[in-house]
Amino acid sequence: MSEENGLDVFGQKWLPRLEAEMRVVLSAPSNAARRHYQMMHYHMGWVDESFQPGAFGTGKRIRPLLCLMACEAVGGDPALALPAAAAVEILHNFSLIHDDIEDGDETRRHRPTLWTIYGVPQAINVGDGMFTLAFASLLRSKQAGVADDRVVAALGRFTACCAALTEGQHLDMWFETQSHVQVADYLRMIEGKTASLVATSLSLGALIGGATPVADDALYGFGHHLGLAFQIQDDILGIWGDPGVTGKAAGNDILRRKKSLPLLYALNHPTVGPQLIDHLAQPLDESDLSDVYALLAASDAQAFAEEQMHSHHEAGLSALAEALGDQAVTSPLRALADDLLLRRA
Ligand code: IPE
Ligand code: IPE
Ligand code: MG
Ligand code: MG
Repeated sequence: MSEENGLDVFGQKWLPRLEAEMRVVLSAPSNAARRHYQMMHYHMGWVDESFQPGAFGTGKRIRPLLCLMACEAVGGDPALALPAAAAVEILHNFSLIHDDIEDGDETRRHRPTLWTIYGVPQAINVGDGMFTLAFASLLRSKQAGVADDRVVAALGRFTACCAALTEGQHLDMWFETQSHVQVADYLRMIEGKTASLVATSLSLGALIGGATPVADDALYGFGHHLGLAFQIQDDILGIWGDPGVTGKAAGNDILRRKKSLPLLYALNHPTVGPQLIDHLAQPLDESDLSDVYALLAASDAQAFAEEQMHSHHEAGLSALAEALGDQAVTSPLRALADDLLLRRA
């Protein structure tokens, strides 16, 4: 993370409070189903496979940070937004548990995924539990002192985001079976599966902080573009990233025929496309990856995806400037966006 940009200072102050809030929401109400909650704690990075406490990879906690920072950026007290920040992070973690089952991924955050340890049926149920507790978390906003009308509005935004997320996941899985996917279809898919939660995280913070409608919309726009750029970067890392750094396998997206941006660009390429379509029509295993990587290189797919990522990064920064005026340049929101899009993990 960059120095002297307010981002580290903000994180040091708020991340421990966020973690404490999430621990309250995800605590077992009785002993009977304690293992259900311990499995949540495994996924959250708080315990090991045998449920012994320790410090494991927790993820970057980007969405709650965006929520808390947005609240502060519009003049609100981030403490009021802590339940909402916990809600977006819990929802995100629910989506990862189900996503790893849907994608057949065995590694996340450098550790075995939940389903590989406790089985798919229990992992589905742990995800369902966290989905529900995300709403319970958001409802705690009232106890934190958020006015009723804002809590109701926040629940409306959160609910719409959950629907968008599952629509995006639907398209992501459906496109695995389709060889002709256009960039516009892809953008609709990643807007649903990723950008909507990033944008909603900001808009919940803005709403709770009392933003004007103009600032609220502009912060949503910032999150929308940041989320798109972030997912495009995740697609690039899913093909060319170092698993030792990302904590997730590389190449699985190709083996599953995911229409990530580089792959769909190459599939639509006038000369490379037909060969790649032929390749993907055959059964695929690890030994075919080097041919696919060569075709991706021949199409310049990585450069295209990077260009798209940078253009959404820029569009996001313009929306941030619209929301915050001159303060945008020194805002920790800007530092977070810049750091995130230069990451390798
Ligand atoms: C992973 O999100 C899923 C995507 C939307 C690309 P993150 O990269 O934010 O996951 P963690 O929480 O930091 O592990
Ligand atoms: C990201 O899914 C969006 C959600 C989990 C809802 P991906 O499948 O693209 O993300 P990773 O690469 O597994 O983290
Ligand atoms: Mg997925
Ligand atoms: Mg996945």
